Amino acid sequence: MAVVGLGTMGAGIAEVFARAGIGVVAIEIDADALGHGLGILEASLAKAVARGKLAEAQQAEIWGRIRPAASFSDAARVDLAIEVVPERMEIKRQVFAELDRVCSPEAILATNTSSLSVTTIAAASKHPGRVIGMHFFNPAPVMRLVEVVSTVLTGPELSAQVADLARHLGKTPVQVRDRAGFVANALLVPYLNHAVKLLETGYASREDIDTAAAAGIGLPMGPLALLDLIGLDTSLSILEVLRGEFGGPRYAPAPLLRRLTDAGRTGRKAGRGLYEYAGGARDDHDKGGNEAAPSSPSTVTLIGSGRAAEAELASAVAAAGVNVTRNPAHPSDLIVIVAGPDEQVLSAAIATGRGQQAVGLHLAAAGLVEVVSTCLTGQAHAAAAAALADRIGRKAVRAPDRPGFLVGALLYPHLADAVRMVQDGYATVADVDTAMTLGCGYPHGPFELLDKTGPAAVLDGLRGMQAGYGDPAFAPPPLLAEHAAAGIGFTG
Ligand SMILES: NC(=O)c1ccc[n+]([C@@H]2O[C@H](COP(=O)([O-])OP(=O)(O)OC[C@H]3O[C@@H](n4cnc5c(N)ncnc54)[C@H](O)[C@@H]3O)[C@@H](O)[C@H]2O)c1
Repeated sequence: MAVVGLGTMGAGIAEVFARAGIGVVAIEIDADALGHGLGILEASLAKAVARGKLAEAQQAEIWGRIRPAASFSDAARVDLAIEVVPERMEIKRQVFAELDRVCSPEAILATNTSSLSVTTIAAASKHPGRVIGMHFFNPAPVMRLVEVVSTVLTGPELSAQVADLARHLGKTPVQVRDRAGFVANALLVPYLNHAVKLLETGYASREDIDTAAAAGIGLPMGPLALLDLIGLDTSLSILEVLRGEFGGPRYAPAPLLRRLTDAGRTGRKAGRGLYEYAGGARDDHDKGGNEAAPSSPSTVTLIGSGRAAEAELASAVAAAGVNVTRNPAHPSDLIVIVAGPDEQVLSAAIATGRGQQAVGLHLAAAGLVEVVSTCLTGQAHAAAAAALADRIGRKAVRAPDRPGFLVGALLYPHLADAVRMVQDGYATVADVDTAMTLGCGYPHGPFELLDKTGPAAVLDGLRGMQAGYGDPAFAPPPLLAEHAAAGIGFTG
C-alpha cells in the first residue's frame, strides 16, 4: 500500500499498516518533508519500545516495511493508496490525479479527509468506483475507530472490503455514507461549539463547563480543553462544513470561536486558545469564583419535594456538622432548595420569602453538585452553597436557574443530535456509540448515556430548553419522544 502525506496522521497511518505486516510506500512532497515524516514514525516506534510495548526486533521489522518513495511512480503496483495531505480540495485533487495516473485501475484509492466531500474527490477520479473515505482518528496507532465512507459512486463491494481491511489492522470500522462530519465529528463539534456559546454568554465559567462535562457526564476531558487540543481553527472549519450541509442554528459557530481563531488563539499548538499554556502547562487562573468561597454556613434550611436527593443531602450536611432545619421561618444562613434539572428553583425561592438567601442544589452525579442561582440569589449565598458542597466532599459547579442547569444544558442537545442521526437513518445506535467511544474516547456512548439518564428525562430537558429559549436547535427529535412515550431505551 502507499501513504501520501506523512504528517501527523499519515505517519500514524503508515505505522498502523506496517505493524499489521503490510509494506508501505511513503510518499511526500519533497525530501525534507519525507525526512520529517519518517522522523515522526521513528519516534513513535522508539517510544513504544521505551515503554516496553514493542520489542526491538519488531521495531526493526516494522521499520523494514516502510519504503520511502522518490516519486508517485513508486506507487504503481500498490493495491491501496491513502491520501493524507492537508485538508484542501485542490491539493487532494492533485494527489488523486497523480494516483489515477500511476496506480492500476483496480487499486483502491482512499482519502483520510475529515470534512471535505469524498464524493467530490471521487467524482474527479477516472475510476470513481474505487474511491472511498478511510477516516482514521488521531493518534492513528492508538485510536481504534475507522469511519469507512462510501459515496453514491463507490463500487458495491468496496465498503465491506475496506471494513474488513480495517479489522485486519486491529481497528473497528463504522460504515457510513458520505455526509458532512460523518458520525464522530458531526456529533462532537456542535457539542464543543455549544460549550463555547455557554461560556461566551456568561452561562458558566470555563472551568465549570469543563468540570460539568468531566465529573457530571463522565467524559475524559471537558469540551473547552478538548477544543484547545483539537484546534479551534480545525473545529471551526468542520462546523462551517456542517452548517453548509445541514444549516440551522445548531451549527452556527459561536462568535467567540471565530474571534479566537481570527486572533490566532487556536489552542495548544498556538500556546493559547480557550486556556493559556505557559511552557506546556495549562494556566487555570479563572476558577469561576469557587476559589474565593467563604466558610460554609452553620445552619441551613433544606427544602425539597421529598425526593431521594433531599434525604441524601440532609444526611451529608448533618454529617458534616452543619445544622439542618426544614422550616423557612427559622433563622438560617442559607436556604438550599434541592432541585432537579427539569425544575425551576425560582418559584420555590420566592415561596420562602427569602429569595436572596435561597440557592438551588442539584446532585448531578456522584461527587458533583450544581449550585443554581436564581435572579434573586445573593452572590455571597451562592458562594456559601459552593463552600457547603466542598464541606460535604462534592465538587461544585455554578449554573443559572435555566433548563437543564449546566450538565443537562451541555448533554441534552448532544444526545438529541445522536438520536437525530439514527432517526435520519444515517447510522445505527451501535455505530454512534462505537464512533464516540473508539473515536473520541468517551467511556460510554451517547445512547448508553441517554438510557442511563432516561429518554423521558432527556425529552423533558430538551422541551424545557426549547420553550425557555425558543431556539429550534433544542427541538427534541420525534424518535426520542416516541421512546420516552413507550418507556423504552435505545440500547436494550
Ligand atoms: N490531525 C488530525 O487530528 C486529523 C484527524 C483525522 C483526519 N485528519 C485529516 O488528515 C489529513 C492530514 O492531516 P494532518 O493533520 O496529518 O496534516 P499535516 O499537515 O500534519 O500533514 C500533511 C502532510 O502532507 C504533505 N503533503 C502536502 N502536499 C503533498 C503532496 N502534494 N504530496 C504528498 N504529500 C503532501 C505535507 O508535507 C505534510 O507532511 C487531512 O485531510 C485532515 O483533515 C486529520
